[in-house]
Amino acid sequence: MMDAEEVARLKALMEWEGRRTAPPQGFPALPDMPAGRYTSPEYFALEMEHVFRKSWLFAGHMDEIPERGCWMRWHNAGDPIVIVHGMDGKVRAFHNTCRHRGAPVVTEDRGKSSRLMCGYHNWTYKTDGSLVGVPERRDFPEDFDLSCRGLLPVRCELFGKVIFVNFDQGAMPLLDWMGPLAREWEEFAFDRIRLAARHSFDLKCNWKVAMEANMEVYHVPFIHPTTVAPLVDSTRNLNTLYPNGHARMLAPPPRQTDREHVRAIDSPPGWQPIATVGELGRSCTQSYTLFPNWVSPLSNYFVPPLLFWPTSLGTTRLELVTMALDWGDAPAPDLWTVPDAAQPNGRQMSRIILEDTQFGEAIQHSMQGSAFRSVPLSYQEARIYAFHQSLDRMIGEANVPAHLRVEQVIGPEWVWPNDPRAAQMVREASQARDAAE
Ligand code: FES
Ligand SMILES: [Fe+2]
Repeated sequence: MMDAEEVARLKALMEWEGRRTAPPQGFPALPDMPAGRYTSPEYFALEMEHVFRKSWLFAGHMDEIPERGCWMRWHNAGDPIVIVHGMDGKVRAFHNTCRHRGAPVVTEDRGKSSRLMCGYHNWTYKTDGSLVGVPERRDFPEDFDLSCRGLLPVRCELFGKVIFVNFDQGAMPLLDWMGPLAREWEEFAFDRIRLAARHSFDLKCNWKVAMEANMEVYHVPFIHPTTVAPLVDSTRNLNTLYPNGHARMLAPPPRQTDREHVRAIDSPPGWQPIATVGELGRSCTQSYTLFPNWVSPLSNYFVPPLLFWPTSLGTTRLELVTMALDWGDAPAPDLWTVPDAAQPNGRQMSRIILEDTQFGEAIQHSMQGSAFRSVPLSYQEARIYAFHQSLDRMIGEANVPAHLRVEQVIGPEWVWPNDPRAAQMVREASQARDAAE
């Protein structure tokens, strides 16, 4: 939760962002980013190996495996996984790969059973992954040790009711990974929110092309003139960078918009907003990047993450999730998609998502052509640059070929809890007072 002092400081900083006539003093000029970061198979392989194998990744919601014995398949980041709500109440993840000859131990997206049994030769595992049954045991050697042939685990931890996995057995705990976000997200009731909608769509562009449309508000007046622009004053946007590659944008509505009024129109009867959400979540647009691939504009109405899953160098699966506290008898809310019988899964992306994704395929096409050399970014787009710095750090800078690397120009002095902008704002206020005297 944020205290009143922090809220007041952030509000003052948003106003200061609106007033400034240049980037903050001392903020580095961002060097062009190499085109190959979006087009090179070599860089893509590094991302897969070091970023998606070592980061905490959104896997699902407890509503998908509500009871003991419930399990769900998950394969958005390469290896097929099964997430199991154990008979002992604990939630675990395993490779969905039988330790005999590699058949899947579950073959449906969801199910419930007190044991997991591979369909090929019926090797049987408990919900804690241990191997407890091998038919024709007599045909295996006498010293064949079942205890070392349990399902191979994948790290699995919860933030409230949201399930995260990590392929790296040595990864830091999820809460350490989230750092200050864990505290800032307390007010959004992750321990009580329900899963309302989860849909995915395939996009024809690199996952970063798709994701970066959600990491700056520079584009808002131009591609969202009637949808997002009435809610977000991009000139007063305040970006904050956090350790481990996470970030936040915070922007007030334009002065002529009454945000509460706009939202009240949107919220259906029976709807229950999240009462613990503070002033900024109620009155501003507050969107977080959780490194590497989660973007979520959190408010008192929704916890609606967008997830960007690379399926190849030039393709992405976009997952659109809506979570909310309670919606009474009203239909489950779905912030990002709308019904459409013509679509394979019966839904189509909402207007805002269509606007954000409209250029992806053409950008990817251009990027692979000869005219695309490098990417110059403004201060407003610094979240994108900082994200790329974090990618390289996660990969290990020495592992990134020099022609694909970004220079680490945004130093820790710009990363939470540090923020030189606050001191500049105070300095300018006192200079203005002196001038007035
Ligand atoms: S592959 Fe699973 S029991 Fe043989
Ligand atoms: Fe957008």
